[in-house]
Amino acid sequence: MNASATDLAPHLTPRLEGMSEAKRDVLLRCHDYLMPNRVETWLGAGVPLVIGRREGYRIWDVDGRELLDLHLNGGTYNLGHRHPELVAALREGLETLDVGNHHFPSPVRAELAEKLAALTPGDLHYSVFAPSGSEANDIAIKSVRHATGRRKLVCLDAGFHGCSGLSGAAGKDDTARFFHSDYPDEFTRVPFGDLAAMEKALAGGDVAGVLMETIPATQGFPMPAPDYLPGVKALCERHGALYVADEVQTGLGRTGRLWGVESFGVRPDVLITGKGLSGGLYPVSAVVMSREVGAWLAERGWGYVSTFGGAELGCHLASRVLDLCSREEVLASVRRISDALGKGLEEIRERRPFLRGVRRRGLVMGLETAHPMGGVRLSQALYRNGVWAMFAGFDLSVLQFKPGLLVDEAFCDELLGRLDAALAEIEGGAAS
Ligand SMILES: Cc1ncc(COP(=O)(O)O)c(C=O)c1O
Repeated sequence: MNASATDLAPHLTPRLEGMSEAKRDVLLRCHDYLMPNRVETWLGAGVPLVIGRREGYRIWDVDGRELLDLHLNGGTYNLGHRHPELVAALREGLETLDVGNHHFPSPVRAELAEKLAALTPGDLHYSVFAPSGSEANDIAIKSVRHATGRRKLVCLDAGFHGCSGLSGAAGKDDTARFFHSDYPDEFTRVPFGDLAAMEKALAGGDVAGVLMETIPATQGFPMPAPDYLPGVKALCERHGALYVADEVQTGLGRTGRLWGVESFGVRPDVLITGKGLSGGLYPVSAVVMSREVGAWLAERGWGYVSTFGGAELGCHLASRVLDLCSREEVLASVRRISDALGKGLEEIRERRPFLRGVRRRGLVMGLETAHPMGGVRLSQALYRNGVWAMFAGFDLSVLQFKPGLLVDEAFCDELLGRLDAALAEIEGGAAS
């Protein structure tokens, strides 16, 4: 074991008992050099996970324990870990490509941008590529500000858009305040689902854009009422604000349509995609804008530059990801699996009162529990029963439940069995 690390964190030693030497070493070095608070939090929560092997929708702790992955890093692994077609595409890309030079046009960037224009709703046209969802949100904010000549943004109190400067100021997350990087005069938060509050926030005619997570992930996927998103779009049009759809978690087929907004009949002015666009193999995100919002691209070629934004290997992979996610048989399977899981979850809910409700649109799911900390307790119990699923950071009573797009019935049966066992453990009864 790393002596300096144990000296620094002797209080961790009892929590490391029973682990392999190799795993303890990783935990202590990460505690020492990288993420002391996170390591302590996970150890304290009984989730000492260090991910080793990963394949499809399963991950293995470095000590060998298998877990079904129901977190998928917010959809980064929508298509599974190390999807064979994507690994092959990356290998093929490595034969001729690298990051590329971001100042110049390139065939793979052109292919991805054209594909995004064709596959996104309405008249979205121009793309800007970035290395992360946070940075894509920053670009969207700057673009709607430039397009309208206004500074203010309206965001949801349930929203999360990342941790960079502008995206961090936009979300509910209080870390922007922690870093003295919030801009309260420029970002207004309104309650999710409240059209009257939205109207009030827009009425001054000084708002550049409204940032909307289609179904707010960090809040545990509360479902918008059918008229909510179209209502927000209509208010944007009335008051000259632009509608920005953050589809980082709800895009790429997860709702059973390629984009979540499509299933609500909304045509955004800007759409943001990330996470799963990378295939889980090479970081890339994209902001797709109408010609009007992206007009600055024709004016100021270097208005946004990023060495790694639109890295050619990432674009090459993202094109394959779009091909896979937009296949009708994949989208149909998402809807079919969603219905099957919905039935199974309902059957469990009737027997297990700790599971109070199920939020579901395609494979965007949140499990409501009967306890204020129930999402955390269920996450811990599932971990003990061989599933990794994460509680909702903004509502600890809810568990985010995010099966992959390509799971089959056998995986769902196994998952439901493990969920039932976890709930039985919490309720103190026997699994049936
Ligand atoms: C809805 C949403 N938008 C944006 C982001 C930020 O993406 P990234 O972590 O790639 O910066 C996230 C990350 O969880 C997210 O869930």
